[in-house]
Amino acid sequence: AQPTVIFSGIQPTGVPHLGNYLGALRQWVSLQNEAAPSTTLYYSIVDLHSLTSRSQSPAERKLAKRQALASLLACGLDPTRSVLYHQSSVPQHAELHWILSCDASMGLLSRMTQWKSKLADDGVIIEDPLDKQSPNPRSAERLKLGLFSYPVLQAADILLYAATHVPVGEDQVQHIEFARNTANVFNSTYGRSSEKAKARQILTPPDCIVSPAKRVMSLAEPEKKMSKSHALLRSRILITDSAEEIGKKIRAAVTDSEDTVTYNPAQRPGVSNLLDIISYMENGGHGPQDVASDFQNMQVTGSRLRVLKELAATVVTQHLHPIRQNYERLLGERNGKDVDDIAHQGQEKASKKAEKTMREVREAIGI
Ligand code: ADP
Ligand code: NA
Repeated sequence: AQPTVIFSGIQPTGVPHLGNYLGALRQWVSLQNEAAPSTTLYYSIVDLHSLTSRSQSPAERKLAKRQALASLLACGLDPTRSVLYHQSSVPQHAELHWILSCDASMGLLSRMTQWKSKLADDGVIIEDPLDKQSPNPRSAERLKLGLFSYPVLQAADILLYAATHVPVGEDQVQHIEFARNTANVFNSTYGRSSEKAKARQILTPPDCIVSPAKRVMSLAEPEKKMSKSHALLRSRILITDSAEEIGKKIRAAVTDSEDTVTYNPAQRPGVSNLLDIISYMENGGHGPQDVASDFQNMQVTGSRLRVLKELAATVVTQHLHPIRQNYERLLGERNGKDVDDIAHQGQEKASKKAEKTMREVREAIGI
């Protein structure tokens, strides 16, 4: 049987937020801790992906990369067990991206929801960016190839390591399906042309592992997911926030005009998000269907929202406290040099596997 290979990535857009933690990082850690000895795990700081948003200066980006790696370590990832590295330190990602982009469907890419929602966030309102009739020319000028091509680079990230499983939040499921499709297209295009490739597939179509904490919502706009790309800082809790900052953000969280606690994600997204957060944190990985029963035990039914907010602040603070301490120690010690050493070791391990895949890919396509 094929050995299990786990791959996932996070953008170095600063310290991860609670959505990244509950939707991704916490699951990365438990996959690592429960993995069979034959399983390999790759967790990448995807700095090439972060170039698709213009919000960081080069100096900020450099710092954010180190902060992101320190965050992974602080959450419990172990560099002797998981390969932790910066995407750009393995140039094969960019090489495979180009090769895959030559067979990627523009139609398929234009239907990706992340692409569509980022356009909407940027105020570029377009029904179909490829429809010559619809876009106004000013909008089209602002569309960037890199953002459009994001899922292709993500497919390259995953396929380079022959990942069998990709743990992600629900927002990324469509991209993992795209990576599967990309592997299948590549295998059927090039799998026949080389003698060696005939016996087996060249690229491995991956499956996703969707986190039970599917979507943590923004504290400022609870109908949107919590995201680093939203401007308002109080919309998200960072995993290194202090008790005071956590309390402030949760007390300011947008709820609604009804001052009692009920669980109803459709009608009351703000209140339900707080209940979800408590439930995700308290019982490590139950799905929203369990929130209703957890909720009975929370003793907040019918309480004032203030009581719920205090409980949420306490629970979040308690869970994040050790992570915050680890983080400060990691970046404090030797000025973060240990973190850089870990990135370097990760690069060496990741490069070996990436180059092995690329040799097969180059041979299959004849370059
Ligand atoms: P962001 O969306 O904030 O830019 P990334 O794209 O770096 O974050 O995503 C890193 C991981 O975190 C992905 O697996 C993604 O699915 C997960 N994730 C991001 N935001 C959320 C959220 N609000 N709820 C649950 N998971 C999330
Ligand atoms: Na994302």
